[in-house]
Amino acid sequence: MKITAFNGSPRGRSSNTGIMVSKFLQGAENTGAETEQIFLSEKKIGNCMGCFKCWISTPGKCVIRDDITNLLEKVITSDVIVMATPLYVDGVTGILKNFMDRMLPLMDPHFEKDENGECRHVKRYEKYPKVMVVSNCGMPGQEHFQTLKLHFRRMARNFHSEVVAEIYLDSGEMLKSPVLLLKPLIAEYKRNLSRAGVQFVNDGAISRKTSEKLAKPLIPARMYIREANKYWDRELAKLKETSPEEHK
Ligand SMILES: Cc1cc2nc3c(=O)[nH]c(=O)nc-3n(C[C@H](O)[C@H](O)[C@H](O)COP(=O)(O)O)c2cc1C
Repeated sequence: MKITAFNGSPRGRSSNTGIMVSKFLQGAENTGAETEQIFLSEKKIGNCMGCFKCWISTPGKCVIRDDITNLLEKVITSDVIVMATPLYVDGVTGILKNFMDRMLPLMDPHFEKDENGECRHVKRYEKYPKVMVVSNCGMPGQEHFQTLKLHFRRMARNFHSEVVAEIYLDSGEMLKSPVLLLKPLIAEYKRNLSRAGVQFVNDGAISRKTSEKLAKPLIPARMYIREANKYWDRELAKLKETSPEEHK
């Protein structure tokens, strides 16, 4: 099984998203999968220009000369693509959205109805990879992922595919917390991520038990909100110390 993860965090290698994907892929790789995490923030990916030349003049190829040709090759030769993103304004980051827009050459322009009578584009390739989603967000509560979940379900449908696994961590900034008391909880969360990778390769899905553990925040929401507000107060106090004139 070839699994390629596309990480859309602007924080790249130091992102919470990166930690989540790395641990998941570690489990998958130890179970025999071929894995790769691509940090899209390190790639040159311009905006889709909406010219439709990838459908008319150069069928299947984008006319913008940047990293997309190589990245689309990785998409189409994978069994599973992991769309990985921190939650930005209830959705994907601009980096990941740019990448998703640039996936247009993978489809044929013609329309057809799917098995539910909904319109989509015709396939250009015989086989499309399955989709997995990994995300974390800054606020507490799984409800924040509502629009993201729906977006990827619709996106996968358009790509003649389906979402086969999802990992959503709210209160995600805790993953890198330096607080000693949290270290064992963070380590346990990471072990569960690797366990999910093992299960995914062995069974094609993450078990319900592991999924539930991965959707559970590391600390209760009440505590997280209190600590987050203290953090922002400390940071703002530092700013007042360094430039008191501006904060009169
Ligand atoms: C521009 C921007 C928009 C954000 N929007 C949301 C949001 O809608 N909901 C939320 O819970 N967190 C939001 N966040 C917080 C991030 O999701 C959070 O910091 C996350 O842990 C970053 O993950 P990363 O390290 O993988 O980039 C936002 C952050 C930024 C910078």
